[in-house]
Formats: sequence, structure tokens, C-alpha cells
Amino acid sequence: MKVLVIGSGGREHALVWKIAQSPRSNRIFCAPGNAGIARLAECLNIKAEDIPGLLDFARKDRVDLTVVGPEAPLTAGLVDQFEQAGLRVFGPSQAAAEIEGSKVFCKELLRKYGIPTGGFAVFNEPVLAKEYVREQPLPVVLKAEGLAAGKGVILALTVGEAVGAIDRIMVEREFGAAGDRLLIEECLVGQEASVMAFVDGTHLSPMVPAQDHKRVFDSDEGPNTGGMGAYSPVPAVTEDLYEMAVNRILQPTVEAMAKEGRTYRGVLYAGVMLTAEGPKVLEYNCRFGDPETQVVLPRLNSDLLEIMEACIDGSLDRVQPEWSDKTAVCVVMASGGYPGDYEKGKDLQGLPAAAAFEGVTLFHAGTTEKHGCVVTDGGRVLGVTALGDGFRDTIEKVYSAAGQIRFEGMHLRQDIGRRALEAQS
Ligand code: AMP
Ligand code: GLY
Repeated sequence: MKVLVIGSGGREHALVWKIAQSPRSNRIFCAPGNAGIARLAECLNIKAEDIPGLLDFARKDRVDLTVVGPEAPLTAGLVDQFEQAGLRVFGPSQAAAEIEGSKVFCKELLRKYGIPTGGFAVFNEPVLAKEYVREQPLPVVLKAEGLAAGKGVILALTVGEAVGAIDRIMVEREFGAAGDRLLIEECLVGQEASVMAFVDGTHLSPMVPAQDHKRVFDSDEGPNTGGMGAYSPVPAVTEDLYEMAVNRILQPTVEAMAKEGRTYRGVLYAGVMLTAEGPKVLEYNCRFGDPETQVVLPRLNSDLLEIMEACIDGSLDRVQPEWSDKTAVCVVMASGGYPGDYEKGKDLQGLPAAAAFEGVTLFHAGTTEKHGCVVTDGGRVLGVTALGDGFRDTIEKVYSAAGQIRFEGMHLRQDIGRRALEAQS
């Protein structure tokens, strides 16, 4: 089977890596891919947002299955266009992807169906929003409605900060059209976890949970990033909490989406806060998480393509994905300056030495090849994933491997997985 993976990050490298292990795949393409993906797949010079270009390629090259990594092509309707052209594609339709594309749609759906989430109000002009925040308990969370690459979320500790955030989002339009409407949310307190599930429209098969590390610096300091590392399993997600997340959050959401005429197929990712009252939804994503995928897929013992095909065919109840008891930890190595401005084109050294560690896989993110050398080409450059037994050994292994890698200006968190280790000891 010919498979096309869309995207160019660490998540897509992990997808390609897992798909390459499937007996069903015999040729893999990736658009546009990166230097790591290029070792496993034929990389195409087509951007992930170029739906006509992707469609043209998939049609002409008779691609059997297309797998979409990032949210942008999903919310832009890639899946609908591929299906109309008679092509098989793994991911939600545009109407279903709105669960990530519009935070207002998501929160209103959760409220309508009584799915646990924090309180919220929606505003389309700043004056009323400012009046509202003056009456709310602090802190409050302010969000631009639309996609803002994870950056449109502001936690305000004071009324002054909240008013400033309203101006930034709605008046100065820092996040462009994403700021047409503003959400003001109750601030939820607890540990965060990511619970992703395969969904076939009706049935759901949950994956093992993961925890992301969103802040740029150790001990969760500094600005939010796309994710600086992840681990799985998550000791804070006990069996009870996991069941609650699946039965009270994910399953009712799949049912709600079907009732709304937005049948959900693909990966549904619930970002949950483990509050004192149980897990509550922070956000939904319509795709695999990055870097969660880099710790979840290494724990999947089953054939990923079989599961994806069952999602498309509505037969997910007939496959039983198997997960290993191993521990996975992924440490992201980022360019100097990220999540702000950074330079590209820095030589990466030590990759073979890092990859030589048993159980270690390097998932490239922002890399490209130049004159036969791998150089940096993005903010998050590389994710080093180790698979091992327990957190102590796995963390030691992942940092030993990461310690082999060098590039000018690089930075990485030194505390990925520490919280899980402390919880276990
Ligand atoms: P989102 O893009 O909505 O997931 O928000 C990004 C991050 O902001 C989340 O992963 C949380 O760390 C934080 N966050 C978002 N909403 C809330 C909330 N209601 N309460 C507390 N933290 C939040
Ligand atoms: N790691 C967070 C996300 O994929 O949205």
C-alpha cells in the first residue's frame, strides 16, 4: 500500500516511523517531511497547507491512504476534498475538525452535552469582556477563539492583566482573525494530561495517556511552546481517572459530535486538567499531539495502519490495539531563542552516537539536509525518545543520548519526566 503522510514535524516522523513498520505499507511519501523522515519516506516539495497540490499528487500517484498530521489542513477541509475525489484519508472532516478550530464551538458543545469542563463566557466586543473580568474570581484565562499555534492563551493574575489581554487580542489583534471572538474561562488547577483516542465515527479506542511539558524552561517556567518534551505512562492518571476521561469525556464527545451531524473520524485528543473534582477538558485537538505522539506510538505494539483503516471503515470495534508496559520519555532539543525568534542552518552533530543507544529513537522536527549535512530548520529541532523500564532508567537513557547531540544555540529542558519519577518514588 502507498501511504502519504502530511506534515514535517516530530509527530510526522513518529507516524512515518510507525507506518514503516507495518506489513501493509510498501511505499511512504511525506509532504514536505524533514531530514529524518527522508530516511524512511520519499519527501515531496509540497506544503502541508497546499491542498490542491496534495490532492493532485495523491490522485496521480495513486496513493492508497493519506494520513494528516497538523491541524491546519484538517480545519481547511483537506479530508472532505480527498473524500470527494474518492481517496482514502485518515482524519476528521472540516465540520468535525472545528472542535479544535473554534474554541467557542468546543466549549459550547461541552456545555450543551454536560461534558466536564471549566466555566466560560464568550465575547465579541471588548467593553463587555472588560466588565465581565472585573466580576470574576482571579486568575482568569483569556483565549482568542481561533487557531493561534498554542500562543493565543493568556492567564491573567490581575484585572489589569486581563484588561491588557483583552486589548491585545481584540483591539490590537495580536492573533489576527483568531481574535474575532474572545473566550474568558475559569482557571482550572491541577496536573495536565493528554488522552488521545482513535475514533471511527461511533467507536473509540483510547491510547495510553501522555504528559506534555508546554513551558520552555525547567520547572514549568517561561512562555508556552509547542511542547518541550513528554512522557508516557502518566502516574497522575490513575486507572480511575483514565476511565473517567474515556467514559465521561471522550465517549460522550464522540456521541455529541455524531448528534450534531459532525461525525468524528481520526484521532481525537483531549487535553484534560486533573482537578480535585475529576478530569475536565481544557481543549480538544483534532489530531495527534506533538510531542505526545513521540512517546505514545513507541508503546503501540499493533499495526498502526490496521487501526487507521478501521477508523475509516467504521470497524474499530473489531481491532484491539495492544500497548506495551514500557516507559517512554521524549526530550525536545530546540533552537536558541525558541519560542521567540531563532536562527536556522546550524549543523547538527552527534546524531549517530545518540541513535546508537539501545531503545533510543531520534524523531526529527525542524531539520533539513544541506550539502550532505543535517542542519536546523525550525524552532523545535529534534525529539530524542527513549523506551525503557521505569522512569529512572528511561530518563537516564534519554538524557545520555541527548547529551551526544550538539548544535549552536541549542536548548533543552533538563527535567522532562521528573514529576513522574517523583510520583513513583
Ligand atoms: P489551550 O491551547 O486551550 O490548550 O491552552 C494552552 C495551555 O494553557 C493549556 O495546556 C493549559 O496549560 C493552559 N490553559 C488553558 N486553559 C486553561 C484553563 N481554563 N485553566 C488553566 N489553564 C489553562
Ligand atoms: N503538545 C500539544 C499539542 O500537540 O497540541
